[in-house]
Amino acid sequence: MALLKKIIFPVAGLGSRFLPATKATPKEMLPIVDKPLIQYAVEEAIDAGFTDLIFITGKSKRAITDHFDSSLESFSNLDEKKVSLMNEMNNIIPKGVSCIYIRQGEPLGLGHAILQAKPVVGNEPFAVSLADDLIDAAPGVLKQLVEKYEETNDSVIAVQKIDKSDSNKYGIIDSNNFDSDLVKLTGIVEKPDPDFAPSNLGVVGRYVFNNNLMDYLEKTTFGAGHEIQLTDGIKLMLKQNNIYAYSFEGRRYDCGSKLGYLMANVDYGLKHTELGPALKEYLKTKI
Ligand code: UTP
Repeated sequence: MALLKKIIFPVAGLGSRFLPATKATPKEMLPIVDKPLIQYAVEEAIDAGFTDLIFITGKSKRAITDHFDSSLESFSNLDEKKVSLMNEMNNIIPKGVSCIYIRQGEPLGLGHAILQAKPVVGNEPFAVSLADDLIDAAPGVLKQLVEKYEETNDSVIAVQKIDKSDSNKYGIIDSNNFDSDLVKLTGIVEKPDPDFAPSNLGVVGRYVFNNNLMDYLEKTTFGAGHEIQLTDGIKLMLKQNNIYAYSFEGRRYDCGSKLGYLMANVDYGLKHTELGPALKEYLKTKI
């Protein structure tokens, strides 16, 4: 089995659901308490053993590139605590891990964004992580997916149980057998009406693919929203390949939506060792 070391972070979307915050600031740089969403996603990937981090960036996304640089500044004027913090910031990306940045000239959809990484991915399997899906899990959800990939030697996508009424916000999967937490896909539908949803399992933003997804994305034509949709690429791939869906252990926050983002900040704030107790007291006075 080829070693899984490459991961794609598509971060070139417009983030229109989060305007005006995302007019000049990347959605992926919005902080949950004190850490940007993209850093949570990167740390989860490094923890799962990925060493080649491929960012698909676009217009107004330069802050992401800057964030993972070492600033290499002299801190001689700062006190010890601040120097230690600055050094920590310079070491978000450990030795042996590389960041590769590719531009998506136009935001033509998630499938199109992933396809931009084809020359770098080559013949290797790869993962995809959408940073605006923040997932609180131990072990991290990418680690869980890698384990399932090694078990099946086939592509595995993360899914979670959703309210049927929310079907039109997700890719919804179909299977002949929903008896276990790892099921073989027989179909996938992008944002169906609740009445037409084949199950209550919605796709969330973590995937591991055999490299041939790229071949199918190349054949994928413009779909919903006049975008190259990842779901359409997966649908084509499914005709000739096994794909599994895994119901991961963990709590997911849709931080591309304002409510999901606020929920994540409350939960991560309450868990924060320094801020948690004071935030809890404050929230008690509000409810
Ligand atoms: P979303 O569906 O959340 O789209 O993309 P978006 O543009 O970021 O946000 P809204 O819907 O306008 O509010 C899912 C992921 O795919 C990336 C986004 O950056 C996000 O991580 N994406 C989407 C791209 O990289 N390129 C695209 O053309 C579209």
